[in-house]
Amino acid sequence: MLPIQPDRFLADLHRLRGFGASGVGKGVVRPAYSDADIAARAWLAERMREAGLTVQVDPVGSVFGLAEGRSLLVGSHTDSQPEGGWLDGALGVIAGLEIARASGEAGGPPVSVVSFQDEEGRFGVTTGSAVWSGTVSLEEADGFVDRDGVRFGAARAGMPGRSDRFVDPARFSGFLEMHIEQGPVLDRDGEVIGVVDAIVGIRDMAITIDGAQNHAGTTPMALRKDAFQALARFNALIAERFCNVVTPQTVWTIGHVALHPNAASIVPGRVRFSMQWRDGDADRLNRMAAIVRDTALEVAASGGFEVGFGPLLALEPVTMEAGLRGALEQAAEADVAGRWRVMPSGALHDATNMARLMPVGMLFVPSINGISHAFAEDTNEADLVTGLRVMARAVEALGKSAHP
Ligand code: GLV
Ligand code: MN
Ligand code: MN
Repeated sequence: MLPIQPDRFLADLHRLRGFGASGVGKGVVRPAYSDADIAARAWLAERMREAGLTVQVDPVGSVFGLAEGRSLLVGSHTDSQPEGGWLDGALGVIAGLEIARASGEAGGPPVSVVSFQDEEGRFGVTTGSAVWSGTVSLEEADGFVDRDGVRFGAARAGMPGRSDRFVDPARFSGFLEMHIEQGPVLDRDGEVIGVVDAIVGIRDMAITIDGAQNHAGTTPMALRKDAFQALARFNALIAERFCNVVTPQTVWTIGHVALHPNAASIVPGRVRFSMQWRDGDADRLNRMAAIVRDTALEVAASGGFEVGFGPLLALEPVTMEAGLRGALEQAAEADVAGRWRVMPSGALHDATNMARLMPVGMLFVPSINGISHAFAEDTNEADLVTGLRVMARAVEALGKSAHP
């Protein structure tokens, strides 16, 4: 067994949480390219150097700790949602760091570590790994804007120590990502490990509806072009129309709404909102896209509104590679027989993009009460360590089998 040190791993996870620690419990506010994110990445780079890895920060700010020669790549992301927990992404990066350290101490197998930039989509969707994998071109990503109007190109220019070269993906034999489940299944059923078989796909688009701003006391109801009412109508109509297309696993979310000018005595003239939907079936995602567009256009036409669509960000569903998945399953069976399962991921991960470049495998540990993307996100430390152990077993076995 690789000489992993659970105490060192947990201590580093808590240290990482110190960058942007916020809110109740173990909450974190560390969005991509914020001061806290940049400081956390500098700290991580130092830990990588101490582990004997060569640090390369790529042009978008993803931080790599590279082992010599051909290696497995293990990691995730260290940026957070605007209100996030301490484990989403951080767990996979620090697990990678601990496994790389242990492998270095044991004389192999070689393990490299990565923290991708902007996984949480301040600008796009899993932007750092999407650019590296060619899912999105750098030029296209540079034009993405966050909800405050900042451009990705400007944000990444503020990240110190970047190289002008991307890392060559051919140096890696595969990518392993450990993550919290972010859902209720393992916690509810008293299991400690999930081996992921597939990750759902996503579509995400900003929509703008323009009506007419006016006085809330004097404008008769029949003469209003109230942008909020248009959004309310759109929301009700898509729920009805999706009924014929979705399964119980399909999800959709209007998570960000900017109403203008957002004042009690003004009929709102403009609304910009995010429309996101996810499913394991690409055809269903595309049928939902048609419903979203048609419904927005119909609402606009019937009420005299103008509608605008931002770029449609799309990641397709992916399956995990059989060899890496098999290694994780065998490691789980050896460590926690009968207390693990194979399961899909409803959350997105950098692994989705990595599947375009190399074989990919993913491991879940339970999320207490299934909560994530919230300050209350947490996992029992014993479960974090179980995940680390299972991952380390799989890495060791893959090293012995000389995974191609
Ligand atoms: C990634 O965090 C997602 O939104 O699934
Ligand atoms: Mn994550
Ligand atoms: Mn997340």
